[in-house]
Amino acid sequence: MEQETLNQVSMPRIGDKAPEFTAVTTQGNINFPSDYSGKWSILFSHPADFTPVCTSEFMTFASMQEQFREANCELIGLSIDGLYSHIAWLRSIKDKIEYKGMKNVEVTFPLIEDITMEVATKYGMIQPGESATQAVRAVFFVDPQGIIRAIIYYPLSIGRNFDELYRALIAMQTTDAFGVACPADWQVGDDVIVPPAGSCGTAKDRMEGKEDLDCKDWYFCTKKLDKDLVLDTVLKK
Ligand code: BEZ
Repeated sequence: MEQETLNQVSMPRIGDKAPEFTAVTTQGNINFPSDYSGKWSILFSHPADFTPVCTSEFMTFASMQEQFREANCELIGLSIDGLYSHIAWLRSIKDKIEYKGMKNVEVTFPLIEDITMEVATKYGMIQPGESATQAVRAVFFVDPQGIIRAIIYYPLSIGRNFDELYRALIAMQTTDAFGVACPADWQVGDDVIVPPAGSCGTAKDRMEGKEDLDCKDWYFCTKKLDKDLVLDTVLKK
């Protein structure tokens, strides 16, 4: 068999059903995604326990856990380490590490042990050009129906931007709730993009100002979406 064929791995894609697995975690066993039915979840991998970039990431993510929960989203971490390593590392973080004003940080979201690499392989988190033994920094956003909605990968050496993960989550919830799209760097309260004109007539109407839209051209129209309406709908605030 050709080497190229041997190296082929299947990786889940946006729009796929999240591959199912049962795993041991620091919070007990989980069945994914069924345990998270009705909620959003973020399944993310990191290269290894007791490493500095990962430690900074875990402290940041744990300190934002309540913010994600308020957006109906649970966090689940994974690395190719065993349960006792995970427990020891999380204890070290809580007892010893102070970083950017964060200290005594307790990581209470589940951290999956994946010594067998079963889950990491299923999700394409092992990318051998980067490392054959450590997972890259992968992030899978899974919606309440168990569908993968976004995937982000970072290399081993760069910590993720957790504000961006939160922004992406809220943006997806907003596009679902209001049937709109979100432009570059969108934040709650910014204008949103309306679906493209589906006919010449609609394109003409839009350019003649017959709809309450701001059209740069017929294919690029935005509208206001009130910040409080988004917060009420998405965060139920
Ligand atoms: C880190 O988390 O610090 C790290 C892990 C693997 C490779 C490089 C950095």
